[in-house]
Amino acid sequence: MRRNIVHPGADELIYEIRQIVSLGKSLEKMGVPITWENIGDPIQKGEKVAPWIKEIVTDLIQDDQSWAYTATQGYESTRDYLALKVNERGGTKITPDDILFFNGLGDAVAKIFAFMKREARILGPSPAYSTYSSAEAAHSGYEHLTYELKPENGWMPDMQEIENKIKYNDSIAGILLINPDNPTGAVFDKEILSQFVKICEKYDCILICDETYAHVNFSGNGSIHLSEVIGDKACGMALRSISKELPWPGSRCGWIEVFNRKKDHFFDRYIKSLIDAKMLEVCSTTLPQMAIPRIYSSPELLPHFQMRNDKFKKRAEMAMQILKEVPGISVVEPRGGFFLTVVFDEGVLRDKMKLEITNVQAKNFIETLLQNSSRDRRFILYLMASTGICVVPLSSFCSAKDGFRITLLEENPDVFEKTYQTLARSIRNYLKSI
Ligand SMILES: Cc1ncc(COP(=O)(O)O)c(C=O)c1O
Repeated sequence: MRRNIVHPGADELIYEIRQIVSLGKSLEKMGVPITWENIGDPIQKGEKVAPWIKEIVTDLIQDDQSWAYTATQGYESTRDYLALKVNERGGTKITPDDILFFNGLGDAVAKIFAFMKREARILGPSPAYSTYSSAEAAHSGYEHLTYELKPENGWMPDMQEIENKIKYNDSIAGILLINPDNPTGAVFDKEILSQFVKICEKYDCILICDETYAHVNFSGNGSIHLSEVIGDKACGMALRSISKELPWPGSRCGWIEVFNRKKDHFFDRYIKSLIDAKMLEVCSTTLPQMAIPRIYSSPELLPHFQMRNDKFKKRAEMAMQILKEVPGISVVEPRGGFFLTVVFDEGVLRDKMKLEITNVQAKNFIETLLQNSSRDRRFILYLMASTGICVVPLSSFCSAKDGFRITLLEENPDVFEKTYQTLARSIRNYLKSI
């Protein structure tokens, strides 16, 4: 080809959460039954859609309007409804024009970075959720810039580290946080969120708060939204989605709520560019947008959130019960979201460690992949070939720590317990293998 058409950030587009699937599928063909613990899709893991939500959607299908294109920014009465909901919280107020719908937050994240000036960087957490780290790195052409969440401190960040990074790197235009967090399960309280806001005010940066799991919060302290802490100075965006909290991941429906848009000329112009970009694609999915006011105003919603949070809390407690006795790892009990992250103690993983694999074909296949694999990826390859449990290595979440992410999503309690017991046994055997 006479021109190189490859984007400079092309190598940064890595999504191990899904890439690991092709290895799992190959192992399945070789006769290893796989327990999929790599992806946060509750429906795939057996959660049943609540009948009252199905009824609302079934009813909407009869309305031809739900088959049509909708307004570029999103279905108007849904934006009215959502703006009202934000304003009822009593924090920073928005108008329906401060809401912009996307085809899921995956789409929102892609646009947020695609239309941001290349030299402007966003500082995000490590471990990082790959959609952000890959999109930010691809947009800038450099490795994603991160601040550390510290497992020894319940996965809380060191605010001084964040401030120093911003102070000494003026290419940083904003900070990202995910609350509750994927992959750590950390929940940031009002105090920490306010500290993020203060830093953004001081250094004139934007705050991007991913609230995908806002209502998957079993910390006992309730959900805190960005609107409740951002005040009237800092520019910010909250990213909301119905994928996880209803759950309806296949709806491909998420939206951003923009705060203090008019406080900064550049921010205002940037938000306009996101809307203009959406206009080129016409609009986002109509039917789920139309369903939102009906679902969110149903008296069934809060008991539904409560029931799910109780369920995840119980699972988190059971997982902790099983893993806490395992030497060589540390685990912080998740307080929100769908995931639990296991961190190997520094120096415990060695290159010659292995697990017994009875399926010879699977053993040969996995052993060809070990070369150049990070230490934690080596463990998860052995785990998958030996037990069929498919998890995601922590090194693929922009983390210098060895570990992996597993879900709290298995609906069958016996399978859930067995998976965690098998995992605990495998970690023990792996660490003892040399
Ligand atoms: C933190 C976080 N943000 C965004 C997304 C993307 O969600 P959506 O289904 O709305 O694209 C996910 C999906 O796993 C997520 O975990």
